[in-house]
Amino acid sequence: MKFLRTLACGAVALCASLAHAADVERTGGPYVPTPPAVVEKMLELAGVGSQDFVVDLGSGDGRIVLAAATRYQASGMGVDIDPELVEVANALARKQGIAGRVRFLRQDVMAADLSRATVLTLYLLPGMMASLRPKLLAELKPGTRVVSHDFGFDQWKPDRSVTVETQEKYDMTGMWTSDVHLWIVPAAVQGAWRVTRAGEEGEPSRLEIRQGFQQFEGRFSRGGRTFTFRDGRLEGVRLSFAVPAGNGRSERYSATVGRDRMNGEVRDGEAVVARWSATRIP
Ligand SMILES: C[S@@+](CC[C@H](N)C(=O)[O-])C[C@H]1O[C@@H](n2cnc3c(N)ncnc32)[C@H](O)[C@@H]1O
Repeated sequence: MKFLRTLACGAVALCASLAHAADVERTGGPYVPTPPAVVEKMLELAGVGSQDFVVDLGSGDGRIVLAAATRYQASGMGVDIDPELVEVANALARKQGIAGRVRFLRQDVMAADLSRATVLTLYLLPGMMASLRPKLLAELKPGTRVVSHDFGFDQWKPDRSVTVETQEKYDMTGMWTSDVHLWIVPAAVQGAWRVTRAGEEGEPSRLEIRQGFQQFEGRFSRGGRTFTFRDGRLEGVRLSFAVPAGNGRSERYSATVGRDRMNGEVRDGEAVVARWSATRIP
């Protein structure tokens, strides 16, 4: 049976797999369930609620999606390559009376449909995490919360990480810890933007952005002067950066980003001093 196999291969197989993690690209690793305390922390860190659609890639017995549905009334989906595990997860969903809101498919994670996801959960080996990263950034909507148990995405650093103590892991009791990481999928803002500041006459300003996931740096040209900045931040579709405003002061630009447009406000300290908008220069 699947769970006996889990007991036998859990810690040993995961550790052995980790040793070869750099070579693993097509498999997310063996079935090792996330302990309940860690599932709870993953859902809490993602801020799961009843409006969410939670997708677990490599869903095992379905526990993360099932917990999101029973505790937070969310909907969701899990995919796993192992048909027995998919069957177990669907049977649990029926037993818990939530089969109308959650379902589990036998599918490779690389083929999963992410279009409905507002929260994405993972407990997959680093090689698979690296393979998945471009798919997640291309297919998840900006603002989607991604939560992973233990493993990260190399250069795409988490927005938050916490460590959880758990009384069991790898199906063995003891004092264990797990790391839980949260990323908020950033809007794509790389490139040049024409900036208009409300109440300002003359040539529009120009913003050039070089983006590295949720951080960015760039140049802001306004009134014949060009400033560089390195502190640009994105949290989903919320953007902010600061440029010098003279007299040692700086102005902070914040905005909500759409596909080819952003709109927001300029602050000097706490005070809003102007509204601004920008359109992408093709
Ligand atoms: C470490 S377990 C995590 C199970 C569950 N998400 C949890 O946290 O309890 C990894 C799961 O990913 C599945 N898996 C591995 N490679 C996969 C792939 N390429 N496509 C789909 N599922 C995969 C395994 O069958 C296993 O159930």
